[in-house]
Amino acid sequence: MIKKIGVLTSGGDAPGMNCAIRAVVRAGLKYGLEVYGVMDGYRGLVDDDIFPMERYSVSDIVNRGGTILQTARLREFKEESVRKIAVNNLKRRGIEALVVIGGDGSYMGAKKLTEMGINCVGLPGTIDNDIASTDYTIGFDTCLNTIVDCIDKIRDTTSSHQRCAVIEVMGNHCGDLALFSGLAEGAEMILTPDHVLPEEEIMASLKKLYVGKKKRAIVIVSEKMYPNIHEFAARIQAETGFETKAEVLGRVQRGGSPSGFDRVLAARMGAYAVDCLLDGKGGICIGMINNKIVDYDIYEALKLPRDKHASMLRLIDVLQ
Ligand code: F6P
Repeated sequence: MIKKIGVLTSGGDAPGMNCAIRAVVRAGLKYGLEVYGVMDGYRGLVDDDIFPMERYSVSDIVNRGGTILQTARLREFKEESVRKIAVNNLKRRGIEALVVIGGDGSYMGAKKLTEMGINCVGLPGTIDNDIASTDYTIGFDTCLNTIVDCIDKIRDTTSSHQRCAVIEVMGNHCGDLALFSGLAEGAEMILTPDHVLPEEEIMASLKKLYVGKKKRAIVIVSEKMYPNIHEFAARIQAETGFETKAEVLGRVQRGGSPSGFDRVLAARMGAYAVDCLLDGKGGICIGMINNKIVDYDIYEALKLPRDKHASMLRLIDVLQ
């Protein structure tokens, strides 16, 4: 039976990561394991920035955004020679297994470490909801609520001034944050990688609103769709007559206290990850499918097609 496990957070931070760390530490200790925290994601493994965690290391963190273990994106971890340093550091300390909380970029490192003798389990910690092996990632729900809160405020001033607000939300290349927030807001237009409209169509429908009764519009756009959102807004203004302002919500979306949903999701997944390590499993990632916590081989998970939410995409038109 394993005796020592580590836990780290990697990639962009997400609200709920602390709840996942807490679950791993508390479940690990409960089952008699020694649990070690690794600072700064994979960088801490390479730099041997590893410390023992106890019950009280994770007190009062469930409500805190960010990650107490800090995070990083370490590109060099793709190199086997760099991973070897990490494996040697872990082995010297007798740490036999690891929980990696992060996005799909971090999963690959977890798989490779498993192949080098350290059993790893990945937990989906990212606001983007871009991991196909889970219905929801840890952080998505909180981020969605933050976006809704921000857009509610932008809506007030947009209505007062009879403007068009073009609001860019995060998601990397995944449109879920834009789609869900767009439906939650009843936005006049939702543009995501799964719902791309030709520019003439965009201009024509906004112009229709401008000359019609509705003298304001909310347009929600996934990041990375337009190279310059301010230029896109300027084109809308020039072609439709709407005074148009672009708002990039930015990293406010990644911070803040995690929602109840994200806290519970993180707790369930963190505890399940420890169960998997105790069962001797590695190279897997945890997901929640139809409210059931499940695990997948990481390679299989990364090959799964992402749910594009066809029925929700249809609602964009139905509810206009
Ligand atoms: O993956 C999370 C995420 O917030 C993406 O939505 C975004 O594209 C990216 O990270 C931004 O990362 P950074 O803060 O490192 O620029």
